Amino acid sequence: MAKAKFQKVTKAIIPAAGLGTRFLPATKAMPKEMLTVVAKPIIQYAVEEAYAAGIREFIFITGRGKAVMENHFDHPYELADTLRKKGKLAELKLVESVLPADAKVYYTRQGQPLGLGHAVGCAAGITQEEPFAVLLPDDIIDTSQGNPLKEMLAIYNETGKSVVMAEEVAPDRTNQYGILDLGGTGIKNNRARVKTFVEKPEPKKAPSNLAIVGRYVLTGRHMAQLAKTKPGRGGEIQLTDAMIEVCKKEGFTGYLHNGLRFDCGDKVGFQMANLYFALQDPYIAGRLQPFLHQMAERHDRRQALREDEIKRRKTKSKK
Ligand code: G1P
Repeated sequence: MAKAKFQKVTKAIIPAAGLGTRFLPATKAMPKEMLTVVAKPIIQYAVEEAYAAGIREFIFITGRGKAVMENHFDHPYELADTLRKKGKLAELKLVESVLPADAKVYYTRQGQPLGLGHAVGCAAGITQEEPFAVLLPDDIIDTSQGNPLKEMLAIYNETGKSVVMAEEVAPDRTNQYGILDLGGTGIKNNRARVKTFVEKPEPKKAPSNLAIVGRYVLTGRHMAQLAKTKPGRGGEIQLTDAMIEVCKKEGFTGYLHNGLRFDCGDKVGFQMANLYFALQDPYIAGRLQPFLHQMAERHDRRQALREDEIKRRKTKSKK
């Protein structure tokens, strides 16, 4: 077998220290990452995606109040034993599949909310100089049409350069994302050579509408760079700022993702993810689909009544 040219990526960092204020009061005592999309916590989707892409070591960046997440990825001896004794083997399989036996987990705390770059940097002692992946668990990817992280790892293995996942966003939303500057070069086979990045530019100043979304494969140099990175936009230590510096020295590839992604950091995206994944389950879909049609019809009827009422009032006021 040919020897890999570049050091293999075996570790993924999953930042999960956020307060989840957009989901209050649900997140008052419950980590946002543990909210469920159908019957799985949000964070489990990221772990399954990374595992399927070949990652075997998971580094969770946690904070106060996140212990329940550690319990989720622990081996529940008593529960497993009870399910086994009761012959509930399907349920036992679900419990055991949360973390396959050959996966290893590390937890490290981000003591202060100093930004995504700071959160990732908290794992420096574990990754040392190795390259690593970063998955932002708010972004759930539909992997039924392909696993983008797997593609990104393949690109890294081929080029030895960092890879970031990008998606086209509406031009008026560039100030919500890190944006790719391709310096005038194009996209070929879903890949683009990145000139630099700009963190959350206003639409008028954005070099493109290609946004960084939730998945990164980063070379080992990033940890040393993060250690030197000063607070940037919003007074936070930005991962994008460290990437800009590494990009100058090593280059960077943008991987354009065309599949479905749900932003579960947002209430709308979270509901969409729930509906989408629920409709993939034949048992749920059988009852949910007619209900959704019914709701849509009801909504249309109400809307029509409202419009009629507005027209009626207008004609009345003209008379
Ligand atoms: C972070 C990054 C940004 C990236 C985004 C993807 O921003 O700083 O570059 O586009 O994640 O979700 P945040 O969403 O933490 O504000």
